[in-house]
Order: sequence, then C-alpha cells, then structure tokens
Amino acid sequence: MFPTAEHRAARGSSANTSATVTVTVLGLGPMGRALAGAFLEGGIRTTVWNRTPGKDRDLIDRGATGAASPEEAVSAGDLVVVCVVNYDASDAVLRQEAVTAALKGRTVVNLSADTPARARSAGRWAADHGIRCLDGAIMTPTTTIGTPDAVFLHSGPADLYEEHRPVLEILGGTHTHLGEDIGRAAAYDLALLDIFWTAMSGYAHALAVADAEGISATELAPFAKGIGAIIPPVMDEYARDVAGGTYSGEGNPLTSAASSMTHVIDASEAHGIDAGPMRVAEGWARRAIGLGHGGDGFSRLTELLARR
Ligand SMILES: NC(=O)c1ccc[n+]([C@@H]2O[C@H](COP(=O)([O-])OP(=O)(O)OC[C@H]3O[C@@H](n4cnc5c(N)ncnc54)[C@H](OP(=O)(O)O)[C@@H]3O)[C@@H](O)[C@H]2O)c1
Repeated sequence: MFPTAEHRAARGSSANTSATVTVTVLGLGPMGRALAGAFLEGGIRTTVWNRTPGKDRDLIDRGATGAASPEEAVSAGDLVVVCVVNYDASDAVLRQEAVTAALKGRTVVNLSADTPARARSAGRWAADHGIRCLDGAIMTPTTTIGTPDAVFLHSGPADLYEEHRPVLEILGGTHTHLGEDIGRAAAYDLALLDIFWTAMSGYAHALAVADAEGISATELAPFAKGIGAIIPPVMDEYARDVAGGTYSGEGNPLTSAASSMTHVIDASEAHGIDAGPMRVAEGWARRAIGLGHGGDGFSRLTELLARR
C-alpha cells in the first residue's frame, strides 16, 4: 500500500526540502521494495539494487533507476538505505572493496535487523572506513510503509540523524531517534520482538490446545483478542513495578499464576501437545516462589532473570 494524496500532502514540506536528495536502496526483498516505493512516491530520485536480479522491475517502471552493481548503486545516492535479511548479508554487500570505496563520505542507514552487537561493530567498521552510519529498526509490516502507521527506530550520531531526518520521514509514520549508541535501535527491536514472538508462540500453542478441545481457531480468535486487550495496562503496571523495585502481587500473586500455568501444561500434555515454553515460564515462577516471593506479582520474574 502506498500513500494516498492526503498522506503525500501532509508530508509535502519535508518532501520539498529533500527534492534534490538522491537515495539508493540496497536490498529489494518485500521491505526494501516498500521503502524504495515510498521514496519514489515522495518524489525522491531513487536508485535500487538487489543481489538477485529482476526484483527491481516494478520499481523501474515507477521511475527508479536500476543499478547493475552495488558500487554503481552506492555511487548514485547521497543517502544509502540498506534493507537485507541481516548484518551478514549487509556486510557481504558493503564490505566488497569497490562498494566500501564508493561509500566513503556518504551516509548509510542500515535498516536490516540484527543484534545490538552487530550494529555496534558495523558502526565501528564504517567509522574506520570514512563512512557515516546510522542504524535503524522497522517495527511495522511492509503495508504500513509510506503511511502514518509506519514505525521506525533510529540510533547513531544525532547530528547525522537530524541531517537525514527529512528524507527518512518520507517513509511515513513515526521516526524516533533513540540515542548516540548505534546499537540502541537494535536493542529496542530485540526487546520488542521478544514480546511479539513469545506472544505469537503462545497464540500458536493456544490454537493447538483449543483444537484438541474441539474449539476452532475462528471460535477462539475473538476471545484471544480480548486477552490481548487486557495486556497494555498490565505492561504499564509491570514497568512501574520493575522501575520501582516493588512487586505487589495484590490481586494476582505468583502462587496463583503458577497454578494456572500448571493447568495449561497438564491439559496440553494430556493431549500430547508440547508445553515446553510454558514449562520454562512456570519453572521461573516456581523458582521465585521457592525464594520466598510467592505473594509477589509476576513482575518479580524480571528481577529473577535480570543480569544485575
Ligand atoms: N517484511 C517485513 O514486514 C519486515 C518488518 C520489519 C522489519 N523487517 C526487516 O527488514 C529486513 C528485510 O526484510 P524483507 O522483508 O525485505 O525480507 P528478508 O527475507 O528478511 O530479506 C530479503 C533481502 O535480503 C537479501 N539478502 C539475503 N542474503 C543476502 C546476501 N548474502 N547478500 C545480499 N543480499 C542478501 C535478499 O536478496 P536476494 O533477493 O538476492 O535473496 C533480499 O533483498 C529484515 O532485516 C527484516 O527483519 C521486515
């Protein structure tokens, strides 16, 4: 989905200030294509390259320049946006001698996902080679790019971010600079993906257990959404507990939580369904109870797990 005329009008001022900027997008998977498409919609001269040829056809039809090599692509852009599967892949592209030479003096915004450590080592490598570098994480799906629903996190030198912010904002949505530590966007990304994938694993598991009990996925889904809706205020409460070091279990002590987790394990395993993740989580709760925290809230588990 690309921005409507209203979206483009709303972003008009930043697009105008970026009229002369040229952008290169390296990596044309689903996300790279969405990013390049949004730059084109924003009126930016955009050059694209992908390891496997042929993925640029639609973008070229829409006005992009297709480059024959990554060094040719890099040479065409003031700002080089990288969006490949991970940092092994971005290293495989950026650390080719000719590409590294072409990057000298330019700015790279690496929107490929990886660990904070990889983002930091890539930042050091870039500095050693005269390349200006920001790291970023995209927190929303391809369909949001170029719309107000997109969410981007950025980290690295604040002045560099400010210099390129007008162009980055053409991608739509919310852009947040999280600090000078270039690994910080990846650190937020990891923490947020931890929540997402753990929750989605729970949902996949719940649908399997429900199925074993004769409940279809579509029957459970509305109730599953109800459970999802009670989580946001609990997140705020939990964050206050962890920040304050107070773990009140008033209303739902760990002993009660562990008991309900045991029911899930027992029911799953009675149907022959693996309850591994719940067993691990229940083990944490039992350990905290064993340490005398049975009357505390679930937030006590963070203290148990945290490296302090
Ligand atoms: N899709 C989403 O909804 C979404 C949402 C948020 C964040 N992201 C992040 O955005 C990044 C890109 O995601 P994606 O959805 O576009 O697809 P993806 O499957 O994660 O990445 C595909 C891209 O990586 C390239 N690639 C893989 N290995 C490579 C290598 N060794 N050398 C050069 N290029 C290589 C592929 O090139 P080939 O075509 O040649 O294989 C293709 O351009 C990922 O880090 C992902 O986590 C994606």
